[in-house]
Amino acid sequence: MSRQRNSKHDIERYARLFAQRAHVVKSSAMRDMMSITDRPEVISLAGGLPDTKSFPPELLESVMSQMARTSSAELLQYGPTEGLAAMKECIVDVMSAEGIDADPDDVVVTTGGQQVIDLVTRTLVDPGDTIIAEAPTYPGAVPSFSSFQADVVQIGLDDDGMKIDVLEETLARLDREGVTPKFIYTIPNFQNPGGVTMSLERRRRLVKIARERELLVLEDNPYGMLRYGGEPLPTLRSLDGGEFVMYLGTFSKILSPGIRVGWLEAPAPVLAKVNIAKQAADLCPSSLSQYLVMTYFAQADWRDYVKTACAIYEKRRDAMLGALERHFPPEATWTRPEGGLFIWATLPDVINTTDLLAKALSANVAFVPGEGAFLDGRGRSSMRLNFSGVDETMIVEGVRRIGEVIGGQLDLWRKMTGEHRAVRPPVKAEDASASVTSLAGRKLRRAGNE
Ligand SMILES: Cc1ncc(COP(=O)(O)O)c(C=O)c1O
Repeated sequence: MSRQRNSKHDIERYARLFAQRAHVVKSSAMRDMMSITDRPEVISLAGGLPDTKSFPPELLESVMSQMARTSSAELLQYGPTEGLAAMKECIVDVMSAEGIDADPDDVVVTTGGQQVIDLVTRTLVDPGDTIIAEAPTYPGAVPSFSSFQADVVQIGLDDDGMKIDVLEETLARLDREGVTPKFIYTIPNFQNPGGVTMSLERRRRLVKIARERELLVLEDNPYGMLRYGGEPLPTLRSLDGGEFVMYLGTFSKILSPGIRVGWLEAPAPVLAKVNIAKQAADLCPSSLSQYLVMTYFAQADWRDYVKTACAIYEKRRDAMLGALERHFPPEATWTRPEGGLFIWATLPDVINTTDLLAKALSANVAFVPGEGAFLDGRGRSSMRLNFSGVDETMIVEGVRRIGEVIGGQLDLWRKMTGEHRAVRPPVKAEDASASVTSLAGRKLRRAGNE
């Protein structure tokens, strides 16, 4: 007999057993959508899925059979918490392609980049401590920040990435309030979800601020190698004064997210504590996955697949940009990323994208509503669109369907309000001010000049 799960009665019975952090933790909008968008009839522009179909199956077969033949006992075994030595050599190789001269001793191998966000937050943040992040920020970081009951101050982005003058003003305000942030979280390359890239000048200023204030920065860089135009920029970690930068890397977008291998490179004292947190979390990263990466690196040049993936994503990005021009209303704006996997679109403010999603799903298309990228309810008229997960034809059709749903909503709004002039266009930059969400006290404060 099937039992109703999550009934009101069940929720009430169990709720009093939960820790405070389980009460305040916010789910990731992006993960919530995975189960809905899994339906084959839905064109999903919601996930951040790389095109794993393009990885040559015969290469995978050859890697897997070699590792089974030569290392079966080791790959079935536990390994060191910080990761296998040969694995760290592969990581050092990837980091050197990003212009970072890393020492394997400064690296901890993790279960995806996601675990880095969790372990760093767990290690540095007490309830009520402040983290600075971008506005919008990576939706997957939201459960980590909220579960450790952080106050998250979000700093607006523009086409050159995080607004460093707003960061400076915010740090000065926090100084006056006697608050020292625990770390600054940034995705400088092809930001998820914003699609924008931090300029060199802002990178230098951020690193300088970090060094002068002895403030840690978590540089999250899953997309740095996925550049389809423009000139590569140095990582924060590789800049002068980058010793306050903790670097998050991952194989998810340059090889496979299914293997769940990422890493943290960080100052030794931070790394030692993260290593203990990792012992508690999972003892060690998957040996099987590490052997897969190590054997693949020995058999093939990993850069070749990155080139293949970039060629695919560049076409898909262009298809999405073209479709947006054709199918979105003239009042909408969107970013034009030089790499990565996402475009951030902002609609007239009469449209709430969370409500719009229900209608889009009836039209069998999905996106991530902008609210998921904020901890304070902003982003209501924005959406994240992914262009890596489906081919050009599906992208164009998906954008067309979303455009149609938006058109329907605007028509309805005009009829209901009698407004026939163009609706108010969105503010271009997401926000010029900073806001803070207190998850510890479940109170919400807004700061700045909005
Ligand atoms: C900015 C950012 N950080 C971290 C992650 C997590 O990556 P991983 O699959 O390595 O856990 C993602 C995944 O999409 C991401 O976009």
